[in-house]
Amino acid sequence: MSKQISKYVCQSCGYVSPRWTGKCPNCNEWNTFVEEAPVPAALARKSGGISSKLDAIPLSEVDAIHDVRFSTGITEFDRVLGGGIVSGSVVLLGGDPGIGKSTLMLQVALKLEKKIILYVTGEESPKQVKLRAERLRKISDSVQILPETNVEIISDILDRAAPDLVVVDSIQTLYHPNLESAPGSVGQVRECTSLLTRIAKTKHVPIILIGHVTKEGTIAGPRVIEHVVDTVLQFEGEKHYAYRILRGIKNRFGSTNEIGIFEMHDSGLREVKNPSEVFLSERSCGASGATIVATLEGSRPLLIEVQALVSSSNYGMPQRTATGFDLRRLSMLLAVLDKRVGINTGAHDVFVNIAGGIRIDEPAVDLGIASSIVSSLRDVPVDAQTVAIGEIGLGGEIRTISHSDKRIQEAAKLGFKKIIVPKSNAKKVKSSNDIEILGVETIQEAIKELIG
Ligand code: TYD
Ligand code: MG
Repeated sequence: MSKQISKYVCQSCGYVSPRWTGKCPNCNEWNTFVEEAPVPAALARKSGGISSKLDAIPLSEVDAIHDVRFSTGITEFDRVLGGGIVSGSVVLLGGDPGIGKSTLMLQVALKLEKKIILYVTGEESPKQVKLRAERLRKISDSVQILPETNVEIISDILDRAAPDLVVVDSIQTLYHPNLESAPGSVGQVRECTSLLTRIAKTKHVPIILIGHVTKEGTIAGPRVIEHVVDTVLQFEGEKHYAYRILRGIKNRFGSTNEIGIFEMHDSGLREVKNPSEVFLSERSCGASGATIVATLEGSRPLLIEVQALVSSSNYGMPQRTATGFDLRRLSMLLAVLDKRVGINTGAHDVFVNIAGGIRIDEPAVDLGIASSIVSSLRDVPVDAQTVAIGEIGLGGEIRTISHSDKRIQEAAKLGFKKIIVPKSNAKKVKSSNDIEILGVETIQEAIKELIG
């Protein structure tokens, strides 16, 4: 069969060109051309791989979704997926290079001893995969390694024998022979993904695609396929820490609020089932500039130490640095401290760090950050047995936070004696014998309680 000629389509206006062009002659946008394979008319009707039945059918007669799940035996992974892998679903696992995506997927594959797993490896040789499996101290024949990057050949193999799960490492190495562009380009990634999605839907085989996220998040990035797949998971963590967080970004079969926490060891990833204890194990008791906060990761409360260091600035321009916390929010907190409490840090450098390499985006940690800053500035430690939670408003008021009961329970469970919460939350929760609950209305009040 002669090779089909592909076309280049402007992603902005749909203009079609026979060759790649930098600027679209129609809409004048730059770098919008992406290679696309010509779709045979018969196949075009079957777009997305969803059955081509022509008559519309009443909703009640649609077969219930085959929401058949199987557990992988790795609880932290199952939780993020919403309780296990759904048959026929396509999951995209994204993350920076070297974060541990291949390790996680090989561990999942090795754990599923009773199922047949097809592990398509385009990045590493089968030998390298075996070396990794040896490092994980597990070799299993139910995992079959396929070193192939031609998606049509992979599709043929899946036609002949349907495994219980397919892992593709990585989607950026696959190519479709009908396209001229290099593997990893937007056109290739999109074409390969839609072919694999079709197979997953028609044969009810779950497929997990590993994808690299570039810093920009777009170039050859899996972003272009996020809307095609059912579930998007992000594996993240700081390079210098062993902790890794698996986060759901999109999930057609579950909540995106859940996270899974892992720790990288010599022999692979280990699940962290009691994250608060782990994150608090290295806390700097007695030093100034540290406050324990109760944050919520998904539906799980997590106690964590937020640290601040405030030192006099040697330069004209004081520095503000935040690790694991939004820098603009830090500037806002410093402004509120200045205006409402009269604590001015204009001549100081301020560094804020969330311990353990975790990133926190929820405003409930505001109070902890503010109290660490004041504690460091005055060099007075915050009571080590106290937890502080609350969002700080621009007027210096402490605002209501969600799920205060869960956070309070976690603090009590870990043996803390006192928790400072927004007054509105304190009114709603029952008092407890295990922990003193103190409601505060303003930042002045909270700082008086925490630091004196
Ligand atoms: P890898 O899974 O190859 O990352 P990705 O597929 O996301 O690029 O993991 C890479 C890192 O993990 C590498 O730096 C080595 C480390 N590692 C361990 O620390 N312990 C282990 O048991 C394994 C297999 C890897
Ligand atoms: Mg890898």
